[in-house]
Amino acid sequence: MTTPTDTQITLSRVMGNVEGNLLGTVHGGNIMKIVDDAAGVAANRFAQGPAVTAGMDEMVFLTPVRIGDVLHVHACVNWAGRSSMEVGVRAEVDRWDAVTPRVHVASAYLVMVAVDQDGATREVPELVVQTAAERRRHHEAEIRRRHRLARREEIASSRGVGE
Ligand SMILES: CC(C)(COP(=O)(O)OP(=O)(O)OC[C@H]1O[C@@H](n2cnc3c(N)ncnc32)[C@H](O)[C@@H]1OP(=O)(O)O)[C@@H](O)C(=O)NCCC(=O)NCCS
Repeated sequence: MTTPTDTQITLSRVMGNVEGNLLGTVHGGNIMKIVDDAAGVAANRFAQGPAVTAGMDEMVFLTPVRIGDVLHVHACVNWAGRSSMEVGVRAEVDRWDAVTPRVHVASAYLVMVAVDQDGATREVPELVVQTAAERRRHHEAEIRRRHRLARREEIASSRGVGE
């Protein structure tokens, strides 16, 4: 039995000069890469094999990350279907030059899909939700999934109508 809490992982890294942008803070794309890496680790472990990123949504950057800050990226599988999973990711930093509380810098939700060696989708294990927080995240993930699928369907059908 695997719960969302069992899938939690954290990647931590010091942000170096190579990650900087023209303003001297960390380029958002570098944070997105680590967010995708963290989601992949959570998904691969839960899916007991490879999972690919199908999409990333609601990536919100709240405050700049500075060169030298220690970035911690937490990922957790919120929801699992037949082959797809929603992974929630939260990025926080420890400022390099002060002992202050951790700063929440970004959050994102990613859809990861378990695939076999040929790239075909495959089933993932059951995700068992137990705590109130797990149930809330699971419920909110279901809402986001409905919206993603409805948007995709509506766009596909509008193209069909227009052709
Ligand atoms: C992701 C991928 C495997 C899905 O393949 P597909 O043929 O569309 O598969 P399906 O339509 O059967 O969808 C598989 C699952 O993903 C879900 N899914 C696919 N795209 C989705 C999206 N944009 N939003 C939400 N869910 C999505 C489906 O609902 C389904 O979920 P379920 O099995 O839990 O019910 C395929 O699009 C792919 O290989 N994409 C490239 C991935 C990649 O290279 N990523 C970057 C490198 S890791």
